[in-house]
Amino acid sequence: MQKPDRLTEIVNQISIGLPRQFKITIFNAEAENSYEFTTSPELVLIQSFAPFFDKLLNRYKVYPDMTDVTDISVVNIPKSKIEGFGNIAKAVKLTEHYVIINGRKTEGIDSYLKKISALVDISSVVTKGHGKAFCFDPKKIKAKFLKDWEEKSKITKNEAGFFSAEGTFSPKVVDLGSKELANFFCNKLHGRVADLGAGWGWLSFEALKQNIDKLDLYEANYTSFRCSKLNIEDKRVNYFWIDVMKIEKNNSYDVVIMNPPFHIGHKSDPNLGINFIRKAAEILNRGGQLFMVANRKLPYEKEVNKLFKNIEIHQGYSGFKIIKATKPI
Ligand SMILES: C[S@@+](CC[C@H](N)C(=O)[O-])C[C@H]1O[C@@H](n2cnc3c(N)ncnc32)[C@H](O)[C@@H]1O
Repeated sequence: MQKPDRLTEIVNQISIGLPRQFKITIFNAEAENSYEFTTSPELVLIQSFAPFFDKLLNRYKVYPDMTDVTDISVVNIPKSKIEGFGNIAKAVKLTEHYVIINGRKTEGIDSYLKKISALVDISSVVTKGHGKAFCFDPKKIKAKFLKDWEEKSKITKNEAGFFSAEGTFSPKVVDLGSKELANFFCNKLHGRVADLGAGWGWLSFEALKQNIDKLDLYEANYTSFRCSKLNIEDKRVNYFWIDVMKIEKNNSYDVVIMNPPFHIGHKSDPNLGINFIRKAAEILNRGGQLFMVANRKLPYEKEVNKLFKNIEIHQGYSGFKIIKATKPI
């Protein structure tokens, strides 16, 4: 039998004192994990990134956000600390017995332990697999700190006057690459437009200043998707919380605009952008146009050359390149 990981171990420890039918809610649940506890709690997973959500959906009850009360909650720490503490504040409010914080050393779990142990007694710590899981009684933590964590992580207007939140792409200011792309596509868009990986919606907002018929906004991050709905009110727009890879081939767009992702968590991966280029080629009409921006270093030219013609590559400022390309007729 496989040895229990640190999460299973801490849940097994603390569940001894709980009613037989308890409920456990796991934030930022990992798609690779199989959640097998020796007790069989009612298990609810929270995953706000659509591709991971889809992977969990076949096997578990999964939601993009936490809204219901639970006996135990687990906060797997995300990349952004502000988002992480915001999730802890939410978990504390909705949890009856224990909040567990779980993460790797490289993700900064020790600094969470240090900060939280100064505010509340830690009931248990399991150190295993290059990380830690620790837990505390949510009723004993001071409300003042929670309010502060909640405030800092919530959706608010940023410096550019748009709604965004920590954990979204470029939350405080408009991304420089996107600005360059919007300058470039000024007066060049028409017809049916798709924005792939739209974030909190700035590129779409700019595209809608032009005389286009419709814009479909596709975004996988649930918070970004919610922000985009707050930022854009326009009858021409449809909003999709979706993995771009799941968009059906037969959608026919005249234009695709995008500033594709190049990171998954902490890891940089150019295949993300390459897959976005392939999807753009699939959903465009023959003769349809792609407008994209990317860091100059990212190796996208080979894929663009394979799938498109009339390719223009403009070296922008601040390390970006703009690619305009047409799908062959
Ligand atoms: C570089 S950001 C660009 C955001 C926005 N267009 C802008 O210009 O500020 C890429 C966006 O793609 C989203 N994303 C990543 N993988 C995705 C996927 N598989 N499907 C849909 N969106 C995805 C990310 O959440 C992020 O918001």
